[in-house]
Amino acid sequence: MSNITSQRSAPFVVAQIRQDFPILKLKVNDKPLIYLDNAASSQMPQQVIQRLVDYQTNEHANINRGVHYLSETATLRFEEARGKVQRFINAAETREIIFTSGCTESINLVMHGYGRKFIQAGDEIILTVLEHHSNIVPWQMLAEEKGAIIRVVPINDAGELLIDEYQKLFNPRTKFVAISHVSNSLGTVNPIREMIKFAHGHKVPVLVDGAQAVPHMSVDVQDLDCDFYAFSGHKLGGPTGIGILYGKASLLEAMQPFKGGGDMIAVVSFAKTTYNHIPHKFEAGTPPIAAAIGLGAAIDYLLQIGMVAIAEHEHQLLEYATAQITKLAGVTIIGRAKNKVAVISFVVADIHPHDVGTLLNLDGIAVRTGHHCTQPLMHRLGLSATSRASFAMYNTFAEVDALVAGIVAVQQVFAGSM
Ligand code: ALA
Repeated sequence: MSNITSQRSAPFVVAQIRQDFPILKLKVNDKPLIYLDNAASSQMPQQVIQRLVDYQTNEHANINRGVHYLSETATLRFEEARGKVQRFINAAETREIIFTSGCTESINLVMHGYGRKFIQAGDEIILTVLEHHSNIVPWQMLAEEKGAIIRVVPINDAGELLIDEYQKLFNPRTKFVAISHVSNSLGTVNPIREMIKFAHGHKVPVLVDGAQAVPHMSVDVQDLDCDFYAFSGHKLGGPTGIGILYGKASLLEAMQPFKGGGDMIAVVSFAKTTYNHIPHKFEAGTPPIAAAIGLGAAIDYLLQIGMVAIAEHEHQLLEYATAQITKLAGVTIIGRAKNKVAVISFVVADIHPHDVGTLLNLDGIAVRTGHHCTQPLMHRLGLSATSRASFAMYNTFAEVDALVAGIVAVQQVFAGSM
């Protein structure tokens, strides 16, 4: 575990933390907002909002292109943000950190940059049934283009990967593994360290979709020994429009560029173009400068609270909410993995999740309803949709009580209408 990401500098006081998030003071339908849709996007602390204002007020210009004061300042701040990301996930070098528009683009970058260069007809790519569409569809597009084959790791009824089945999928045609660290729909934490080790035993590189992991736990890419690790800024309290691809330098160097344009080149002529060094080879055009700096500020904020303290608080919320919801007749929690982050998918008997979400919203409670961009997982579970409450560091036990009361109220509305 990285020393930096496990730091804890002050006692964890949720009421104090909530003061940092202006949006949590909002009323929705005349009720205090209870925001339980953090797996979709988490809220931004004032410190990040202020950093964005300061940047736009005093520091903005295009980067890597000017010798003037503002361009040099913006370039410096952008590269400082890269360093913050590097230390946050304990990457060996800053050049292993690529700024993208989000986790989805990070995965697509690997598909285009690595997959289209190195995957051939008949090669096999291993995914899991837990994957978000963003870690399925790019690989299907590649498989279709190349004539490659997708293999899928199944789960048990608790929502845990069947590791024996994973191991059985490997054969000499296996050329790539793409797995989530944490399931966005069920909260399952996958044993990726062991899965990566096994894949490496077969000389197969592994991409980890870490979008749902980085907000909730310390991640150390060197300890995991993953080849690629992808995540988004907006689930970390940073802005939308910014994501990260970590890649081992040797792999990034071997890959082809994903997008062509300014800044990713060394020399351009109509006869031939040569490419810039990593990370710039993968950062064509003007990047999301403000968003990258905002992400750096979000990382500062998380580290100041402490990832261990955040994980502890969220785990207590998970245990409490699981116990309370389990007591409700007619409500079933979907996903009972032993190792979970604070995500609870549930179904209420005879009531469509969209109705559950709509009625909870009348009480100011925000949950996500639907297939959560995991249709193959829903198919495996025999469901079309669930309601999902996903927690963050600023959620409270009182909000869990309000959710439970809200679910009971939904049941009463439907009992009255039947
Ligand atoms: N991937 C995000 C979610 O799980 C949008 O809600």
